[in-house]
Amino acid sequence: MSHRNLLKLCVFVTALWSFHSHAEDPHAAVFAESNYPSAIQCASCHPKVFWEWAVSNHAYSSISPMFHKFEQALNSLASGTIGSFCVRCHQQVATQMGEPREKALWERSDISREGVTCITCHRISNEFGKVNGERHVMPAPINAPVYGAGTGNAIEQVLTNADKYEVSVLTDDTAPTNDQWSVIHTKPIEFTQISKSEFCVSCHQVAVHPGIKLEVVWEQYRASPAADAGITCQDCHMGKVPGEPAGYDTWPIAIVNGQTVGDPNAKHSNHLFYGPGYPIAHPGLFPFNPKAIKWSIDDWLKFDYRSPWGEPKWEEKIEKGLIKAEFPEEWSNREDREEARYVISLNYKLLEDKKKSRIEVMENSMHIDGPFFSSKMETGKSLKFSYNIKNKDSGHNLPSGSLGAQPELWFNVALVDPDGVTVWETGYVDKYGDMADIHSLEVAAGTIKYDKQLFNLQTKFLTTNVKGTDREMYLPVNFDVDQLPHIRPAGLPTSVINHPPLIRMEGRSLPPLSSRKVDYKVPGKLITKPGKYTLQSRFRSRAEPIYFMKFVGATVDMEQSINEWMIDIHPYAAEFEIKNGKKNKVDKNTYPGYVAK
Ligand code: HEC
Ligand code: HEC
Ligand code: HEC
Ligand code: HEC
Ligand code: HEC
Repeated sequence: MSHRNLLKLCVFVTALWSFHSHAEDPHAAVFAESNYPSAIQCASCHPKVFWEWAVSNHAYSSISPMFHKFEQALNSLASGTIGSFCVRCHQQVATQMGEPREKALWERSDISREGVTCITCHRISNEFGKVNGERHVMPAPINAPVYGAGTGNAIEQVLTNADKYEVSVLTDDTAPTNDQWSVIHTKPIEFTQISKSEFCVSCHQVAVHPGIKLEVVWEQYRASPAADAGITCQDCHMGKVPGEPAGYDTWPIAIVNGQTVGDPNAKHSNHLFYGPGYPIAHPGLFPFNPKAIKWSIDDWLKFDYRSPWGEPKWEEKIEKGLIKAEFPEEWSNREDREEARYVISLNYKLLEDKKKSRIEVMENSMHIDGPFFSSKMETGKSLKFSYNIKNKDSGHNLPSGSLGAQPELWFNVALVDPDGVTVWETGYVDKYGDMADIHSLEVAAGTIKYDKQLFNLQTKFLTTNVKGTDREMYLPVNFDVDQLPHIRPAGLPTSVINHPPLIRMEGRSLPPLSSRKVDYKVPGKLITKPGKYTLQSRFRSRAEPIYFMKFVGATVDMEQSINEWMIDIHPYAAEFEIKNGKKNKVDKNTYPGYVAK
């Protein structure tokens, strides 16, 4: 092990140690003096906030493998001209510390792994507007003030009774040497913008090119009924009901060395930041778990989490020589494997809880009415029906359409006949998991039918071709004849080239509180048997299209995870009778081989 790695390990272990036991800690001073304190330090007094944040997409923004694949692909295509544009938001603290964008995650400072971490929001005292993530986090050690809503008033009580709470604001030689003492920040300073929607703008509204906005939540919100009513982003994303402005949970703001301070029923803002997004990193690397950091990123990436490594029963068989397995050197020790497996099981629990909240926030965001039938319900007759989809969220579009053409939200409807056979379906997927639209590799290869009635709320990028026609594309990088690959504006103004901007976005999302009717028609020739039919419907939400993941060079494991963790929203089955009408033959080739559950 190199000297640097060894040092890193010491620092990790020390952090872990002080977080759990407050035992003697020779590195305490080093930590306390760091100008960019880690979330692990805040965790010792703000445990509830910490564990919510630890599984949030904010905590994920730097570790995200999809972020790195996408960021690298874009920089390669654009000959490096993207520069630090992406990392300054996803790895804000690291960028500010001067770490170059191309620096590998495992070579970076520990804090840079934490993405949008505590200090990214609580060491901000300037009101930033639409700055595409160019904010400034105040560099200061743990004992400097933090910025907050000014909810609590107990800090004085703690500071004036430092002995009782075993805290100190000192980090130098004059600091008390007692093992139990923690370094605390001085009085939190009230920063009123943190309670307002404007606080989120600097990162949640992103423009990169005329016609291309990677984040649009803010501009939608600004014109929304929620904004008029004074409902904030925080009210829906940090309250007690995911996605609804239904008030907040209560909890003490801080628990210092086991002692609750201040109001035990203070307002608590949930730091999970509810949303449909989800991590697909190695489960040893994310959720951010202090128990996991005793192993380096490299070590974790060598732990085959999809295998039974570290499961006691399986390990027992290895021990007895009943089965054989090979391990890399880092994981040659059984105890290590078992401990790692335990950490992974804790992380899975956190991911399952997050999944529940993802389903909740999405179910709270929409109302589905239907099916409404508008045709004769007879064999041999076309079956016409519709659903009404409503965006119940008064704050922004469903989905916001942020993040370019990535997040997918589509309607999957299947008609199941009296024998349990699916005779018709829309919103089905190809063998990779993609919808059967023009991006599907299987549609392109002709091995699966194009889904003509697909209802998909995903935003698309449109590019203008040489002849002036539009085409859906998946990446907003201009690499055609007009100019060199470049994400900055075109060299010529629109008035000269006489066509719309070469690339733009086409939103298909539902504005706040609006509805859209979706009409479907099942050809009569598919309805041959009289009896009880079922229409099965569900909305499906996935963070990334598989074709796009392939395009940016995602690994097979990443593709698998993105499919495994996707969610179904409002699954519903409607039963109805089809009477005997004109007989007709089924054409087996007109529907894909979907098997109903
Ligand atoms: C100004 C801040 C900002 C910048 C700059 C930015 N992002 Fe993001 N990014 C976000 C936000 C906010 C989200 C979450 C949006 C949502 O869920 O609607 C996000 C989400 C993502 C996600 C999906 C979540 C995940 O981690 O898998 C990817 C991938 C991503 N960004 C890649 C990029 C790339 C590549 C760039 C550079 C071209 C970039 N981002 C630039 C703010 C930013
Ligand atoms: C994306 C920004 C963001 C991040 C990241 C963030 N916070 Fe907060 N934090 C907020 C907002 C917004 C509030 C609520 C302000 C209000 O009440 O109006 C808040 C409130 C708090 C409070 C008040 C008590 C409570 O329970 O609500 C504490 C303490 C706190 N944060 C600590 C932390 C710690 C520790 C971390 C890291 C583990 C963290 N925050 C990460 C934005 C953030
Ligand atoms: C040694 C304990 C300790 C540590 C470590 C600590 N805090 Fe605090 N924090 C407190 C106490 C005590 C309060 C006051 C609680 C009250 O007023 O009820 C507080 C209050 C806050 C508040 C103000 C909440 C409000 O709205 O009034 C914020 C924000 C905050 N801390 C963030 C952080 C962050 C971020 C870190 C890590 C960089 C951190 N804290 C580390 C003990 C700690
Ligand atoms: C420093 C930049 C930054 C600030 C400030 C910020 N965010 Fe984020 N936010 C991000 C990034 C980056 C992501 C996505 C990270 C990822 O998944 O890779 C994100 C993700 C989210 C998500 C999860 C979306 C999903 O699909 O699950 C929500 C919700 C969210 N932010 C809400 C807020 C709110 C509300 C505020 C203001 C209180 C806020 N954010 C402030 C950068 C920021
Ligand atoms: C009235 C409640 C409400 C308000 C206000 C609100 N949101 Fe949301 N938000 C939701 C719901 C519900 C969802 C889940 C449905 C969806 O994806 O649109 C969501 C989803 C999101 C997502 C992730 C997925 C997406 O749609 O792109 C982000 C990021 C987000 N909100 C950020 C914000 C920010 C930033 C603000 C303030 C500028 C805000 N929200 C205001 C309710 C709200």
